[in-house]
Amino acid sequence: MNIHPKIQKLLDDISVKNILSLLELDDFSSVFEYADKINYLNHGKYIDIRAIVEFSNYCKRKCKYCGLNSTNSSAKRYRMTEKEIIHTAIEARKAGYLTAVLQSGEDSYFTVEKLGFIIKEIKKQVDMFITLSCGEKTFEELTYLKECRADRYLLKHETADDLLYDRLHPCGTLVNRTECLRNLKKLGYESGGGFMIGLPTQSLETIAKDIFLLYDLQCDMAGIGPFIPHPETELNNYSAGSTELTKKAVAITRIILPKANLPATTSLGVLDSKENNNLFSCGANVIMRKVTPPEYVKLYEIYPTDINVKNIEEERKELELAIRTLEKIPR
Ligand code: 5AD
Repeated sequence: MNIHPKIQKLLDDISVKNILSLLELDDFSSVFEYADKINYLNHGKYIDIRAIVEFSNYCKRKCKYCGLNSTNSSAKRYRMTEKEIIHTAIEARKAGYLTAVLQSGEDSYFTVEKLGFIIKEIKKQVDMFITLSCGEKTFEELTYLKECRADRYLLKHETADDLLYDRLHPCGTLVNRTECLRNLKKLGYESGGGFMIGLPTQSLETIAKDIFLLYDLQCDMAGIGPFIPHPETELNNYSAGSTELTKKAVAITRIILPKANLPATTSLGVLDSKENNNLFSCGANVIMRKVTPPEYVKLYEIYPTDINVKNIEEERKELELAIRTLEKIPR
């Protein structure tokens, strides 16, 4: 296979400039093809399926794009009990999921002691990987959670543009966010970064910086998804991010982080359900499925979706079938 000269240039020197020059290509087909090949060489035909348990939608932050932000008074808040969280993860394991992603807003109610207890209980009862996705934590807190056997941690950096980061996040800084991601690596977690495509004022150069930051942090996982406006946020009048640009960003990330786990993000699926075929041909090798109990799933509204959860086992089977139809192997 001939490598496009711009891909070769990027491989020789991984830089924002060389990422940008790929993003600017008019014909991206050779990049998609190369990313697909690298994905195959590193992950074979496997698509790893993860179960997401959205266990609390309380959040102390005020991120301007997110439906869970604490200023959204129309959001009906819930917390699952520890027992419910453990039970749901175990049900997911029984249905065939090898990983549970425990996700929530930044909810101080769930102290690291509570989270640690939940992880230990799940691990006591079933053999399962645990990914946490519950916001920024101190080095000490992350150390404790690692001791409780958390395996992975997702904490998207959201945008690598300082100014944009500050405008969107009244409660945090990019420096703190990336520090947290570096701490995760130091502590031996598989770390997950990621960002949104289509945030207001974002340019192709911002996206190049976002992709470069994933490389700089040597992220083990990266979630890249289009921004979807939520009606109860300040960004409600902006348009959704481009699915095509999202796929391009995933493909370039695959090329520079060949071993990383890259999900076809839920938000990409929401905007691009008709084009499902393409999601796994741009370099993605992971898919996440909500297993949140039906009474809560509608309330966990980061952005509007019509995703329902009816039966964990049946939905897992349907997904496996869909993956097999794409000539991939669900795992
Ligand atoms: N559109 C798309 N993604 C969003 N997220 C939060 N709000 C939105 C939105 N409106 C993403 C963020 C966050 C993850 C849990 O969901 O990247 O890290």
